[in-house]
Amino acid sequence: MNILFATSELYPLVKTGGLADVSYSLPLALQQLGESVTVVMPGYRSVRQKLGQPLRQYRFQDDFLYPDMVLGEYFDDRLSMRLLLVESDSLYDRDGGPYENALSEAWDDNHERFAQFCRAVTSLLGGGCAEYPGKFDVVHCNDWQTGLIPALVNYLGIPIKTVFTIHNLAYQGIFNYDAFQHLSLPEQWWHIDGVEFYGNFSFLKAGIVFSDWVTTVSPTYADEILCEPAACGMGGLLQHHQSKLVGILNGADYTVWNPSSDPNILFHFDPESIEEKTKNKLDLQRHMGLRLSKSTPLIGVVSRLVDQKGVDWILSAMDAMQGEKLQWVVLGTGSKEFEQRFRAMSEANPKTIAVAIGYDETLAHRIEAASDLFAMPSRYEPCGLNQIYSLRYGTLPIVRRTGGLADTVVDADDDAIRQATATGFVFDEPSAEALTAVVRRAIALYSKRKTWKKIQLTAMAQCFDWGHSAQSYLELYKQE
Ligand code: ADP
Ligand code: GLC
Repeated sequence: MNILFATSELYPLVKTGGLADVSYSLPLALQQLGESVTVVMPGYRSVRQKLGQPLRQYRFQDDFLYPDMVLGEYFDDRLSMRLLLVESDSLYDRDGGPYENALSEAWDDNHERFAQFCRAVTSLLGGGCAEYPGKFDVVHCNDWQTGLIPALVNYLGIPIKTVFTIHNLAYQGIFNYDAFQHLSLPEQWWHIDGVEFYGNFSFLKAGIVFSDWVTTVSPTYADEILCEPAACGMGGLLQHHQSKLVGILNGADYTVWNPSSDPNILFHFDPESIEEKTKNKLDLQRHMGLRLSKSTPLIGVVSRLVDQKGVDWILSAMDAMQGEKLQWVVLGTGSKEFEQRFRAMSEANPKTIAVAIGYDETLAHRIEAASDLFAMPSRYEPCGLNQIYSLRYGTLPIVRRTGGLADTVVDADDDAIRQATATGFVFDEPSAEALTAVVRRAIALYSKRKTWKKIQLTAMAQCFDWGHSAQSYLELYKQE
């Protein structure tokens, strides 16, 4: 099959979260199943700088597209996959992130940037880029930035299968009616069964309504989004389209996240040499200015610092547990308020709480390798990747029972410990008190070294690789 995978982020070229990881790993896993996959993404300045000259450039014959728009074809060794960039200097050649400027403000022409991206991809699918030699059987779209692709494919009657994956229903690509009109989209879409959403225009709704299949990134989240609050106002819509909604769990790329070969960490380890993990802990404590101690439990956090991730509960738990034998190391960026509160918490507790505000791939790996526990107390979590990475590093996840966290971590209750199925710590109630209680429970178990090691080994033996999930996507691509 010829699959076109449309995304707005791609590891290692441009990443704000898990979508980038998925956009790298899933196409590779599909290639390993023998399929031909091409990834298409907007040609952001930073990405073009990293890639250098394209192999070729193709022109579009499409009056709806910006006149400066071209399709650049790349093959990058780092990626081992064919990559197409939709290039337009006026839309994407700027400093800043894929969605925001350097001041973390959304680009004010995002509707235009991503509508043009969607139009270009549709044009490619429909033959509007005549010199491009490839043909596609299916287009796999991801999140709101690609939501107009299934809608346009449907409108133009292009004979191709459309799959739309929701990585986070809270990001809906909502703009006003003026924006809709400005984009010259078909007027009949302005309807409750089209792209109109409570008087506004939603890219995400377009993807849900018009695609052949809607997927989301874990089975539990696929159930949760049928009802509020996880549905974010789209419960009725998703119930209506339930027969085409499927939850497929994300995988981890164990070539990137593997403690026995990870180039970012100093001391490699596997289940047979798990004691080496402690050396990474001492190394990180030294690096982050924490008190050196093998026996103090260290909790890692690598996260976007936003409400979704329950980071306010982490701050409260830190506060409530000051003075107890415990250390925290936090890496993240996000809301200025949370960044400031974490900095202040660390300044007040320099030997026990270390905070790095920023985006740092290497440090993320070092934290996974060094920590005893990894905190991810999300209010909701479509899948979550860091808890899956943590398992492989013998770093026991502390998670709330929601979405993909519920699907990947088994709580260390007495039964699970006895049956050797426990892999971490799971709590239910959405509150700081509940998080604090589960952290205390985890720390109490930490002193039982034999039991702890048994749980670590079970955690490390879990396999959430992409093979199985890629197979599920493939079946969907092929299904009528
Ligand atoms: P989300 O996509 O909701 O942010 P995921 O757990 O699916 O959550 O994916 C987050 C990804 O981003 C992981 O690969 C994680 O390691 C990475 N990440 C998040 N914040 C940072 C950061 N500050 N520095 C480095 N990597 C980060
Ligand atoms: C989103 C979700 C996260 C998921 C990721 C990749 O960012 O918040 O839970 O793992 O997408 O699908």
